[in-house]
Amino acid sequence: MTRLSPDPSFDLEAARAAARAVLGDADPAFDERLTATLPELHGLFAQLYGDRDDGREALAEVIAAAAAGWRDRPTELKQLDAQRTAHPNWFLSERMLGGVCYVDRYAGTLAGIRAQIPYFQELGLTYLHLMPLFDSPEGNNDGGYAVSSYRKVDPPLGTMADLAALSADLRAAGISLVLDFIFNHTSNEHEWARKAVAGDPDYEDFYLIFPDRTMPDRYEETVREIFPDDHPGAFVQLPDGRWIWATFYHFQWDLNYANPRVFRAMAQEMMFLANQGVEVLRMDAVAFIWKRLGTLCESLPEAHLLLRAFNLVLRLAAPSVLFKSEAIVHPDEVITYISPDECQLSYNPLQMALGWEALATRDARLLQKALEERHALPPGTSWVNYVRSHDDIGWTFADEDAAELGIDGYPHRRFLNDFYVGRFEGTFSRGEPFQENPKTGDARVAGTTASLAGIEAGDPGGEDRVILAHALALSSGGIPLIYLGDEVGQLNDYGYRDDPAHADDSRWVHRPRRDERAYASRHDLSTVAGRIATRLQALIHARQRSPEFAASNPLVPFRTPFPQVVGFQRVDVESTVLVLGNVGDSTVLIEPDTFSGFRPDASDIVSHSPVVLTGGLMLPAHGVVWLRVRPA
Ligand code: GLC
Ligand code: GLC
Repeated sequence: MTRLSPDPSFDLEAARAAARAVLGDADPAFDERLTATLPELHGLFAQLYGDRDDGREALAEVIAAAAAGWRDRPTELKQLDAQRTAHPNWFLSERMLGGVCYVDRYAGTLAGIRAQIPYFQELGLTYLHLMPLFDSPEGNNDGGYAVSSYRKVDPPLGTMADLAALSADLRAAGISLVLDFIFNHTSNEHEWARKAVAGDPDYEDFYLIFPDRTMPDRYEETVREIFPDDHPGAFVQLPDGRWIWATFYHFQWDLNYANPRVFRAMAQEMMFLANQGVEVLRMDAVAFIWKRLGTLCESLPEAHLLLRAFNLVLRLAAPSVLFKSEAIVHPDEVITYISPDECQLSYNPLQMALGWEALATRDARLLQKALEERHALPPGTSWVNYVRSHDDIGWTFADEDAAELGIDGYPHRRFLNDFYVGRFEGTFSRGEPFQENPKTGDARVAGTTASLAGIEAGDPGGEDRVILAHALALSSGGIPLIYLGDEVGQLNDYGYRDDPAHADDSRWVHRPRRDERAYASRHDLSTVAGRIATRLQALIHARQRSPEFAASNPLVPFRTPFPQVVGFQRVDVESTVLVLGNVGDSTVLIEPDTFSGFRPDASDIVSHSPVVLTGGLMLPAHGVVWLRVRPA
């Protein structure tokens, strides 16, 4: 056993030997990638594990595991790797469109999902995120986010072979399979967890277990409570009296990444998933993966080092796979996860939350400010823009930004919560509170897009708001992600209250089963489902035809004198699309002067009709337009 040498060339030989022992000496492609990535991987390991006596061994073990991952990678996926390496910006295209659903709720089984491929193609999907589908505890399992085995599909849904077959069919249909990599924690029923509890010394160090409350108390001085409805603080007690770290539910135990064996074990699970044909891994709960006493234990520098190291393992073993960050945190922090070396994709929780903020306040200034100041990303990366997800809506905007507009963050969040859970007089929204914390006054909001936007309450602006919210996600830049069911206006499902496994988690209100009736009427304009689906489809088609919307093209602000209007341009080499949305309840007339920078003859790329800007532009309540414009 030796520490990592400060000289990477010394360790390069050991790493090459470790890889060769797995691959034989006949894989020049892997060798080449190893030579290219090893200095960085070595550096990361030196920072994370350099002080340990087994640091060097740990690095060699990870390289050997990566070599095995590559050895086991199916030929079709190696071909995909080659294609993607030749076109590394494939995911920035304006044709990208994502959908997300639960396998059981949307289609019963993996075979059921396969049967939906024609519909996914009709909709235009190129990216399908299936919610966690792994073996997990009976009853409450946090919607599958408590994983008992990363190598076993939850039996009622199908098998790993079904998953691999599905991924191949999706790929043939031009759809990339996206799955979660739930790497912050496992379920308490995972084999590692069982062994840890049983006192197996190899596995006790996989988790963070303490003999008494001394350390938990000290940690809890600085960490947040994430699921206070479930248990206070960040620890739960084991039957033998010891305490174990559990950030989320009591049955989700945080892994101890200070142990390099945990890194290697999870890297192996990651490569296993990549080799089933998963093209994008959604990196669940990234902010929480490293802990240090005296800190918030969120977004610590080591969390970034770990993500980089995982990324390098993929560059070796499954080079086409991308990471998507799930960091639902302050916008300054969200951005730190996004880079070609870390997560190439990220949820855009700020735009998501501020879209709702603007609809509630009828004031788009905070959203406009975020688009102007916080939207740009490094080359080779992209947002995933969504209207809502399977999770709650949290008001993660920066208080500093709000303050610049004279808005006080704390009462503003309270207002937004009241508004969206239906406690505010005159609200159009029907939502439910999630994890209300009386100690901090904090809460988040649950509800489907249609219910939050006013359709459930019968508000006349409901349908338009659904379209407006999606139009922003489709146009601002990045991969738009539709929560499947929202495109046919599905409402809240209050049935969760009667299901003991779900009753305590209001997020189930917005995870309804696929509504066959709504889907059957998706072309019938006399129905809500038909109107929403048809209007959305028109936006999707317009997006697909408009290279301006590629994620690599910049967003250039466009201001009008109206606080209720959000405006921006998406600028390609030779053409520009101007996007204008009105979150207010009445029509605005935007004066001709506002458009003086453009030639008067514009065109609406959704309706394909000419628009003459000399008379200004009428933007109806909750209306949105996409205009192709040319500089004057
Ligand atoms: C992520 C998931 C959420 C889950 C949590 C714990 O935030 O999106 O649904 O509860 O991680 O895994
Ligand atoms: C994530 C987010 C948190 C969210 C939770 C799931 O970890 O950070 O804001 O509410 O998971 O609901």
